[in-house]
Amino acid sequence: MKEKKDKIIRDLEDALSSVSNAVELYEVKAEFLGKKGCVTELSASLKTMSPEEKKNFGKKLNELKTAVEEKLTIKGKEIENRILNEKLEKEKIDVTLPGMQIKCGSPNILEGLIESLEELFMTMGYDVVEGPEVEKDLYNFELLNLPKGHPARDAQDTFYVKDDELLLRSQTSPVQVRTMLANEEKGPIRVICPGKTYRRDDDDATHSHQFTQMEGLLIDKGVSLADLKGTFDIIAKFLFGENVDTRFRSSFYPFTEPSVELDVSCFNCGGEGCPICKSTGWITVGGAGMVHPKVLSNCGYDPDTMSGFAFGFGIERLAMLKYGVTDVRMFYTNDLRTNCDRKDV
Ligand code: DAH
Repeated sequence: MKEKKDKIIRDLEDALSSVSNAVELYEVKAEFLGKKGCVTELSASLKTMSPEEKKNFGKKLNELKTAVEEKLTIKGKEIENRILNEKLEKEKIDVTLPGMQIKCGSPNILEGLIESLEELFMTMGYDVVEGPEVEKDLYNFELLNLPKGHPARDAQDTFYVKDDELLLRSQTSPVQVRTMLANEEKGPIRVICPGKTYRRDDDDATHSHQFTQMEGLLIDKGVSLADLKGTFDIIAKFLFGENVDTRFRSSFYPFTEPSVELDVSCFNCGGEGCPICKSTGWITVGGAGMVHPKVLSNCGYDPDTMSGFAFGFGIERLAMLKYGVTDVRMFYTNDLRTNCDRKDV
């Protein structure tokens, strides 16, 4: 028996040395422990043995079985480990490799324009301030010298949120009021306030129920209309080039006195007349004026010692003119082909 046992173990070791995968291992297992396997066949000889022989032989046979099983298990583990290591090697991640390049979008043209205007104004000492889009009627209208029932309210068909006290701001001018009220010393102010505004308009190529404005407010001692003109000149040249001219056209806004429309000479035809300027040579880009004394005093400023100017631009209108965009809705759709990818935007 000892010899047989040793031979089987040697044969097994031999067979296992050329096993390289689970299928081959299974075959070797069958060869030794299977129904017709050599170890199983050995147990058949038990039948013809005496009880004493059986006891001895049986013990040896069990030892052999255990040894065979152990060797098979060790080989199985070896194969498993090798497969795992190969897998790990294959899936190894080199964290030092450069990342994948993500295709960057370009900023929305309106955002780009607002940012460049903010930079311009900051060089002139202006702060950028913001106000809420859900605003009180008090700030959006009343303190701006537009009491309830004032006919000028009709020009700004407004979305009311709650009764007639809370609304979606129809202009960025309420931020003027908020800024003046918040200034406890009633000292000088230089701010611009960009932001979204809302009116009950039917959307078409030139109207949108939501649009963007940029408000400007400068308060100090001895501010005059000439200061407004100089400031507007800088903005116009920044936006449309050094060659444009500017002019004021008399107008009316309840919160300014006098009030003006801000015109630039047509940057397209140089003033000769073309479809963009509707043959007038001039293009209106915003409204402005000297802050109305009533608005100053509503906000705690003494109109006898302090004065100021204010202006308001429609950002979509500026962008449409500057970049030749023909439909305001393009600013709000996600069709990338309608977005400008110019680097200077
Ligand atoms: N808020 C005005 C509008 O939406 C624009 C405007 C005009 C703003 C004159 C001003 C201003 O600050 O002085 O039509």
